[in-house]
Amino acid sequence: MKELLKKISVVALVLGTHASLQAQSQATIVVDADRGTTQISRHIYGHFSEHLGHCIYGGLYVGEDSPIPNTKGVRNDVIEALKNIKIPNLRWPGGCFADEYHWRDGIGPKSERPKMINTHWGGITEDNSFGTHDFLDMCELLGTEPYICGNVGSGTVEEMSKWVEYMTFDGESPMSKLRTENGREKPWKVNFLAVGNESWGCGGNMTPEAYADNYRRYQTFCRNYGSNHLMKVAGGANVDDYNWTEVLMQRVPAHMMWGLSLHYYTHPGGWDNKGSATQFTIRQYAETMKKALYMDELVTRHDAIMTKYDPQKQVALVVDEWGSWYNVEPGTNPGFLFQQNTMRDALIAATTLNIFHKHADRVRMANLAQIVNVLQAVIFTDGDKMLLTPTYHIFDMYKVHQDATLLPSTVHSDMYKVDEYEMEQVNASASVDKEGVIHISVANLDHEKSVQVKVDVRGKKLNALQYAQILTSQAIGDYNSFEEPNKIELSDYTKKCTLKNDLLTFTIPSKSVVTIAIK
Ligand code: AHR
Repeated sequence: MKELLKKISVVALVLGTHASLQAQSQATIVVDADRGTTQISRHIYGHFSEHLGHCIYGGLYVGEDSPIPNTKGVRNDVIEALKNIKIPNLRWPGGCFADEYHWRDGIGPKSERPKMINTHWGGITEDNSFGTHDFLDMCELLGTEPYICGNVGSGTVEEMSKWVEYMTFDGESPMSKLRTENGREKPWKVNFLAVGNESWGCGGNMTPEAYADNYRRYQTFCRNYGSNHLMKVAGGANVDDYNWTEVLMQRVPAHMMWGLSLHYYTHPGGWDNKGSATQFTIRQYAETMKKALYMDELVTRHDAIMTKYDPQKQVALVVDEWGSWYNVEPGTNPGFLFQQNTMRDALIAATTLNIFHKHADRVRMANLAQIVNVLQAVIFTDGDKMLLTPTYHIFDMYKVHQDATLLPSTVHSDMYKVDEYEMEQVNASASVDKEGVIHISVANLDHEKSVQVKVDVRGKKLNALQYAQILTSQAIGDYNSFEEPNKIELSDYTKKCTLKNDLLTFTIPSKSVVTIAIK
């Protein structure tokens, strides 16, 4: 008996350092494999690059003369990393910066370009060395679609109209002549065009009525040239400003707008003190996750208003700014919005993407803020060094859902509760791709309890488990740093999953995300 007890305690000790000894709960996910009708647009995996801090300069762009390996001034390491996650579109030049940006300042010989003050982001001098050609050429290198944000706040209708002509006109015109003189004869393909940004705030402090009228006017003069077809996005609501959505839908007919946007950032605490990106309590963690889950309510309620005017769901809800926003890292420029990225952020990303999948019939585009070195970035750079954040790994793991068909799924899970913050422990989504492979992504939000998951796939005979991947870490505040760049990365989880009689079972450790492929 003594020997047996000794053996048990040795096993317990070995397991004790892993998830296996964590308290465990159960969850069931029912997936209807034969009931998928809606495509998850790849464009909900979009990103955002603003002239802000080190997003453009140093992050994406170092200039052709830089000793850092680059193509047309864009970092090769960043190009390679972003191509791997298949970014479908990239928003530029802002953000708030967009409504102060005058595109003509960013074309022609770089040494002759006028400078400007970046009043929103640190008051620094912007030399306009990264402009329209640099951005659109970069999109070609990345294999991504440009999403241009035009200036309504301080620009004119003519300015926006001429920008569209400059980028896309395929014939003889003053703007195409200027483009050719600047080294590009062939027009670029530009589909996505936002008409202003946050026009309720930094974009001009307009009322929804005033903005709706301005939107109608500006968009009229943004033409489709040749085969280029603009998909125009009207500036939408700030968080829960449902009246903004109501007024826009009332005043702008569906044929004038491809999409209507929504901005929502996740942070614990109040706007003035959002807490540290890395030093947070479990209570702050739970508060953050509860706020991330609020995206579901926001999308549901904005969608309901849109459906009143647009029951066919022709107008897309475009969540073109989302992600976490914390206090900047100590010692960094407060205007540069640089924050670390932990396992908490990975869970925010997975949870939000699961929400977007669920609303794929309305949410057809979204942009994480922002792509490099700013807010919930997927990449950090420091001189010639680059690292991938935990959020990057979620985008890598989830890329299989891009353009796949959403499969209806229902999750039955225990509740996760910390003080007044209560939520389902598990959230998930599923899709089937063109090859018939079903991908199921599951997030376990609990900071200490693992969960035994049973996935009941109905309506399809399953033959094989193809692979499973996991993103996890010992502590919720863990992150990748230049000292330890691969502390959090994807691992193979295939051997931990069992597929038997169409029932898939596996255990997810606390604070982890798993994606499983079955056929
Ligand atoms: O992403 C940072 C800023 O947040 C954007 O410039 C603005 O649109 C939003 O308020």
